[in-house]
Order: sequence, then C-alpha cells, then structure tokens
Amino acid sequence: MKSIPEASLSCTDKTIPLVGFGTAVYPLQPSQTMRESILRAIQLGYRHFDSAALYQSEQPLGEAITKSIEKGFITSRDQLFITSKLWCSAAHHDLVLPALQNSLNSTPGKYEVPIKEEDIVPFDLKSVWEAMEECKNVGLTKSIGVSNFSCKKLQQLLATANIPPAVNQVEMNPLWQQKKLREFCERNGIHVTAYSPLGAKGTIWGSSQVMECDVLNDIAIAREKTVAQVGPIKSNLIIICACLPNFDLT
Ligand SMILES: NC(=O)c1ccc[n+]([C@@H]2O[C@H](COP(=O)([O-])OP(=O)(O)OC[C@H]3O[C@@H](n4cnc5c(N)ncnc54)[C@H](OP(=O)(O)O)[C@@H]3O)[C@@H](O)[C@H]2O)c1
Repeated sequence: MKSIPEASLSCTDKTIPLVGFGTAVYPLQPSQTMRESILRAIQLGYRHFDSAALYQSEQPLGEAITKSIEKGFITSRDQLFITSKLWCSAAHHDLVLPALQNSLNSTPGKYEVPIKEEDIVPFDLKSVWEAMEECKNVGLTKSIGVSNFSCKKLQQLLATANIPPAVNQVEMNPLWQQKKLREFCERNGIHVTAYSPLGAKGTIWGSSQVMECDVLNDIAIAREKTVAQVGPIKSNLIIICACLPNFDLT
C-alpha cells in the first residue's frame, strides 16, 4: 500500500494527510454502517477523517477509532488527523469551547435544523475566533481552521487573528477551481482542503456535472482511468465518499 502524502500546516507540528474520508451521510444520523465503514477505512490506510457536529458522525468515529486500536490497525489516536466543525448555533464566544469538549467526548453532536430565529444574528467572527484560539491555547485541539470562507471573510479574520486559520475547507473540483481563493490562501499560508472533489453527484448539495463532464471522460479514457481517478485537483485534499471506502489506496 502506498502511503498518503501529507502537507504541513501553520502553527502546529501535526501534518495533514492529503486524502481524507468524509463522514457526512444523508440523512445525518449515526449508524452501524458508518462505524464499520470508518473502521474499514482505517484498516485500508485512511488517516484523515472529516466530521462535524452536524453530521452526527463524531460518536461512531470515536467508537471506530477505539476499535481500530483494539484490532491493531493503528497503535494510537495520534496517528489520525480528525477534523470536526462547529455548528452555527454554537458559533457564539462562550459556546465554542463547550462544543469542542462535547465533540471530544464523542457524544452525539448537537445541531438544530431549521436554525432557530435567535441564532440568525450577525456573525461575531472576532469573538468566535478568539474562543477558537483559546481551544488551541489550552490544548483541546492542535489546529484551528475555517470552512466555506471567501477571500473577504478570510481578510476580515486575518485582520484580528492572533493564530491564523491553518485550513480553509471549501467546495472545489475541476468545474469549480477556486483559483482566486487558492492564490489568496497560498499567499497567507492557509492550506486549502477540497470537499465534493467529484461534484457530490447524488447528494442533496451536489450535482452530476463533474462525473458526466465530457473533457474528464475523454482524459479518463485516454489514460485508462476512471473519472474519479483523474478528476480531483492535484495538491489538495480529497475528501471522498462516506458510505464505502472505495478509493483505491493501493
Ligand atoms: N465543509 C462543508 O461545508 C462540507 C460540505 C459537503 C461535504 N463536506 C465533506 O466532504 C465529504 C465528501 O462529500 P461529497 O460532497 O464529496 O459527497 P460524497 O457523498 O462523499 O460523494 C458524493 C458521490 O460521489 C460519488 N463518488 C464518490 N467516490 C467515488 C468514486 N471513487 N468513484 C465514483 N463515484 C464516486 C458517489 O456517487 P454514487 O453513490 O452515485 O456512486 C457519491 O455518492 C463529506 O462526507 C463531508 O465530510 C464538507
């Protein structure tokens, strides 16, 4: 099995594996299938898992990690890179650290949909980021980052941050290349992680345009590969299908 390349991140010794395993499965709820898929993924060599309180995947992820150590697939939690995300109802200064503690306890993530009216308020980015920095400073997390941030939002964040975001996780694929954002992030030492690298066909948030793209199909045929193998943009993290670890790591 080939090892997965890794990238360094700002403000931490921890490196990020460039291929990750997504855990958002609709409908969003923990399941035995999810737990077993994650366990199998660890066995196959995945070392980076993307979760969120919203996905309800933190508990099965924690259980799969415990099992994978018991089974000897890994020797320690330190061998894994785990991402989780704060849901917007916890994006208030005093709720950030308790939300992370909840994630670390692998208790079911707390989220509310539809979003409550009192939560639809201007986002106080500065104070929320200060609480994120506190999480890192007290050692509850090794890195802090953002998701779905535009250049404008990043500029706003960088203007007051003491610790810059290590990662910006955004939608990115051959039909949505995020050139301006990638250049901005490169200039500012922010690693860009791609989600939906295959366009998220069949999900409630994606489309089949990438998988059915004629140019990608022609490239795949010419190289005797599948569209999924030629599609993802090089040098950025690929987060892939949550249901079955069908990415060929060999
Ligand atoms: N930060 C955010 O806002 C955000 C948003 C969305 C997702 N994410 C993260 O990104 C992860 C991945 O999400 P995603 O949007 O890419 O959805 P996904 O559910 O992982 O993949 C979507 C579809 O792509 C197809 N696919 C995946 N791997 C394939 C392969 N090797 N060959 C052929 N088809 C393949 C599958 O279609 P078929 O079932 O038809 O085969 C699959 O259902 C999520 O689990 C989550 O962790 C983050």
